[in-house]
Amino acid sequence: PARVTVPELRRMKTRGERIAVITAYDATFARMLDEGGADVLLVGDSLGMVVQGLDTTLPVTVDEMIYHCRAVARGTKRALIVGDMPFMSYQVSIEEALRNAGRFLAEGGAHAVKLEGGEPMAATIARVVSVGIPVMAHVGLTPQSVHAMGGFKVQGRGEDDAERVLRDARAVADAGAFAVVLEGIPTELAQRITAAIDVPTIGIGAGVHCDGQVLVSYDLLGLTPDLKPKFVKRYAELFADGRAATERYVEEVRSGAFPAPEHSFGAAPAKKSDAPE
Ligand code: KIV
Ligand code: NA
Repeated sequence: PARVTVPELRRMKTRGERIAVITAYDATFARMLDEGGADVLLVGDSLGMVVQGLDTTLPVTVDEMIYHCRAVARGTKRALIVGDMPFMSYQVSIEEALRNAGRFLAEGGAHAVKLEGGEPMAATIARVVSVGIPVMAHVGLTPQSVHAMGGFKVQGRGEDDAERVLRDARAVADAGAFAVVLEGIPTELAQRITAAIDVPTIGIGAGVHCDGQVLVSYDLLGLTPDLKPKFVKRYAELFADGRAATERYVEEVRSGAFPAPEHSFGAAPAKKSDAPE
């Protein structure tokens, strides 16, 4: 299958075709999500929480992100790969943003980067885009600003705050972002923004009117049992399934039921069926 491209995503908005985005952090999951038809795989800094076990995304480094990007890129054939720029890898200066964004493409095998922030990040986005690196923007609830927001809180409630988020989305679209993630904002605001800008909006906790949706793969697959935010829908229960499978394995090891003869090698000269595969 032909690789999804940045211009193709813009055309999808024009044609009214919704865009399916999922996060991925390793090659095996990436292959599964790619074969399942995801248009975009986002190597999110959410890996700090679901892979590394942190409480926030703030400690994640560029080196760690690039390591995961490389694994995801190797696992895919069709999806566009977007690498999420971690906290403080693009805020200090435009020069640092350019250098780090470039590493995601050159070392990480990503096709684009994502960074958080609205109007204040517009100049940075414009420069990164100007050197040929596509940028996905991210406004509304921006998890790298968790302490400034006073927690993971819905943004854009009330007319003044709605205007601020709308201004942010306009500014990043005008700066050349090829898509804008809208996270944790009211449905009506996301609808207004989606109508106001001509690049695709990708919603998470932003209602049904966005041009696409994104979910954390671990959430949609049911791998985060302690966490069930309102915006998540679970399409599988892999944590429960995996724990049950583990219990059966442990029981069979203890009882001697595993391995059975069909999992074991004989002493006679090797046959084809003895191949470790
Ligand atoms: O890091 C992440 O997974 C994200 C998405 C949820 C948008 O930024
Ligand atoms: Na992120």
